Amino acid sequence: MRSALKFVTVFFFAAVTAAGAQNAVRFDSSAKVFRLDGGDVSYAFGINDRNELQPLYWGSRLGAADSFPPAHTNEGNASFDMSTSATPQEFAGWGAGLQLEPALKITFPDGNRDLVLHYVSHRIEGNTLSIRLKDVEREVFVELRYEIDPATGILGRSAKIENKTAAALMIEQAAAATWTLPHGTNYTLDSLTGRWAGEDQLQQEAMHQGQRVLESRRGSTGHQNDPWFAIERAHTNDQDAGDVWFGALAWSGSWRITVEQDLLNQVRVTGGYNPFDFGYKLNPGESLATPVFYGGYSSHGIGEASRLLHRFELAQILPQRPNPHPRPVIYNSWEATEFNVTESGQETLAEKAASIGVERFVVDDGWFGQRKDDHAGLGDWYVNQQKFPNGLKPLIDKVHSLGMDFGLWVEPEMVNPNSDLYRKHPDWVLNFAGRPRTEGRNQLVLNLARPDVRAYVFGFLDKLLSENDIAFLKWDYNRNWSEPGWPAVASDEQKQVYVKYVDNLYGILRELREKHPKVEIESCSGGGGRVDLGILRYTDEVWPSDNTDPFDRLTIQDGFTYAYTPEVMMAWVTETPSGPNYAPLSLQYRFLSSMQGGLGVGSNLNHWQAEDFATAKHLIDEYKQIRETVQHGSLYRLVSPRNGSEQSVTESVSSDRNQAAVFASLHSSQFGYPYPLLYLRGLDPKAQYKLHWITAKPGGDLPETATGAFWMNSGLQLNLMGDFQAAAFRLDRVAP
Ligand code: GLA
Repeated sequence: MRSALKFVTVFFFAAVTAAGAQNAVRFDSSAKVFRLDGGDVSYAFGINDRNELQPLYWGSRLGAADSFPPAHTNEGNASFDMSTSATPQEFAGWGAGLQLEPALKITFPDGNRDLVLHYVSHRIEGNTLSIRLKDVEREVFVELRYEIDPATGILGRSAKIENKTAAALMIEQAAAATWTLPHGTNYTLDSLTGRWAGEDQLQQEAMHQGQRVLESRRGSTGHQNDPWFAIERAHTNDQDAGDVWFGALAWSGSWRITVEQDLLNQVRVTGGYNPFDFGYKLNPGESLATPVFYGGYSSHGIGEASRLLHRFELAQILPQRPNPHPRPVIYNSWEATEFNVTESGQETLAEKAASIGVERFVVDDGWFGQRKDDHAGLGDWYVNQQKFPNGLKPLIDKVHSLGMDFGLWVEPEMVNPNSDLYRKHPDWVLNFAGRPRTEGRNQLVLNLARPDVRAYVFGFLDKLLSENDIAFLKWDYNRNWSEPGWPAVASDEQKQVYVKYVDNLYGILRELREKHPKVEIESCSGGGGRVDLGILRYTDEVWPSDNTDPFDRLTIQDGFTYAYTPEVMMAWVTETPSGPNYAPLSLQYRFLSSMQGGLGVGSNLNHWQAEDFATAKHLIDEYKQIRETVQHGSLYRLVSPRNGSEQSVTESVSSDRNQAAVFASLHSSQFGYPYPLLYLRGLDPKAQYKLHWITAKPGGDLPETATGAFWMNSGLQLNLMGDFQAAAFRLDRVAP
């Protein structure tokens, strides 16, 4: 018996030529092994003796001429652990004694629920491999797609299920992919959990036999789990050491990632549509495509894993890929004025915002319909006459005259029962006929799966963008689903809402961007309730949390950057004391927390004194000098704010290593211990870097100029003392 994923002895085949080795995707037809190479990663799987796709290798890049022996099924070691479960598969149907998580589960109209998928054919095109599988008996086909990113080695995997039988069938579970790690017992699972105002808390737990499920059953991504995982082998506290496998599911609806360590200590990760309440009826001739599940590997720890993801998101995911614009500095008065937006009030704030260097002025909730609070107006997307008697144009013109562009808040997928839209179309919301409709924040969810709702939402947004010079939409989504019924379609088609709703959301975003190519969009869902690689294909930034407490934000931002690039991480400077903790914090402290992502200001500028404007102007000027480095550079988490840590330090290094920006903060001092010594990372050791303080120098003697080697190795001492202190500096390469 042999375990196929045991680090397979790598055979050398002289026949593999150097020319062949340059292809990102190769098929060794004698051994029937596929191999994909990208970045520092190789990935291999074979067609085994049962004609199934069996994973062989996922890890550090192998020699160009290395190849694998054929894949062999594992016989299993007991009648209770049959070969089907003992042999890992790339994409397993539920059937033939599979006891582990299947990728696909189908019920046929005759009651048969057995599905066994075998290899039929494949196609290689550049960085893409497509493989066709078919059930051993029925005309059900699955097309698997693999696309490897040459720069990062991140692999995108998805599946398309086709019904070529003569009758409709019901898909009860459909994943994009199963990832298989080398078998072992020394794994740590990293995941992100949270809740409203407490998103992106990094959890690290030892893995044991059994399943650990990360999921959302809410109709959208959710605040509770991010569709992201990382699995570390032999976890260490050094962020830049060790083997890490990681993945992110690009889906903004209900989703599930099942991490499973089986009885042979084989670790598999299966992710896709959440099977809970799932049922997709597939008529003859129809197909269902899954979302893409991205996966990557780093031999330089979790720090490098997140840097790979950041690079990949910037170059391959975001709408402005491969070179997204850095985020402008924004002003938004939501926390200052809430629903009380008026033309004159916003103009006064716009003048003040422009004076400190803000580049984009955003009007939040309250500008439309009969919207005075959150009880009315959602759905009625006309400009409120009392607040803006001449429409939005005078304010937009004013904002432009101040040198800023203009952004607007919308919540297109929702309706208040107290709205003209709901009075006219009560059937447009998600509901089960005759049942109560549960409200959240006094609102219901429009069923975007309906063609008429899709047309309405696209129509009003298109009109708004056509009639007004709007550069930016903050697209909000402030509740989760309840009663997810769709009475207008047949009962066995209603559950398609889980797929069709999100497909239509993506479709609207895509068409709006095509028609209005200059408009940028933020994904917000009461903070970070809809952040994933699916929505990030269509949105330029996200609102990570409604919690703008700058100390809480350090932990949220720390977790956020495990999965997402700081480019998309908007962070506002807001009032003090305020927020969930009511902590009085200096303006400088608040700025330094927010300057680690896309910077915004959300304070009530009418309450500021002259010195506040001076501090803000200075720090916004400084931010513009480092923004490219912070948003597009390599992030090193030098000291984590998690687990009761009293400090937090991040360092960002520009991709050309010409600049580094360092943010250091101290929660509180105790017993007079010194601040931890800082060892910077990622600099060019031979180059000379000049120190520039962004804040006042906090004490501690640092040289004015030194080599990268000095900054990385000497141990830098900052003398931060007291409660909620913070300092920041940058290094600029001066030679060579
Ligand atoms: C949500 C958002 C906030 C704000 C309000 C407006 O809570 O997360 O930033 O836009 O809605 O109602």
